[in-house]
Amino acid sequence: MKLLKKIAWALLIVFVGMQFFRPETNTAEAGHLDAFLTETNPSQEVRLILKQACNDCHSNQTIYPWYSNIAPISYWMDEHIEHGKEELNFSEWATYKKKKKDHKLEELVEEVEEGKMPLNEYTWTHVDAKLTDGQIKALTDWAKRTRALYQIGERPQ
Ligand code: HEC
Repeated sequence: MKLLKKIAWALLIVFVGMQFFRPETNTAEAGHLDAFLTETNPSQEVRLILKQACNDCHSNQTIYPWYSNIAPISYWMDEHIEHGKEELNFSEWATYKKKKKDHKLEELVEEVEEGKMPLNEYTWTHVDAKLTDGQIKALTDWAKRTRALYQIGERPQ
């Protein structure tokens, strides 16, 4: 019993100590998505889908829920955000070359059609991010149309 009590205290101290180490928050200036939105011209419906289901991990602006302040949840979320942005960051769209834009949109269609994005664990707490069949179609149709525009040179290179 004594040992268990010691372990419980040690865990509590570690947990409290963790709270002092916070990952940097992912917050951008207003207008960080302007270039992306102008170039890919999503409908209002698609904008809302991106906002509710993707931008937290694929843009420079995350909307943080209250529990994101609690370590180790904060570390776990930060890992997703950093990794997600590394693969695809709408806020940095203007820095991508045409070929990369086309490829990222191709990946987007694949990931969304296969139900891999948004990440499952994200939809546990973000109910709005669970995409309906109609939303999946709207999002992938937009991505396919935009790819076609890049391919025929109707968009910046
Ligand atoms: C909770 C964070 C999170 C959310 C929300 C999220 N993603 Fe991701 N996404 C990631 C992570 C992490 C990766 C990289 C690892 C992987 O592929 O599983 C990734 C990878 C991707 C890739 C692959 C890029 C490449 O070049 O291979 C695409 C495309 C993508 N996400 C699109 C989306 C779309 C579209 C949405 C919204 C419908 C979305 N993601 C929502 C975290 C997220």
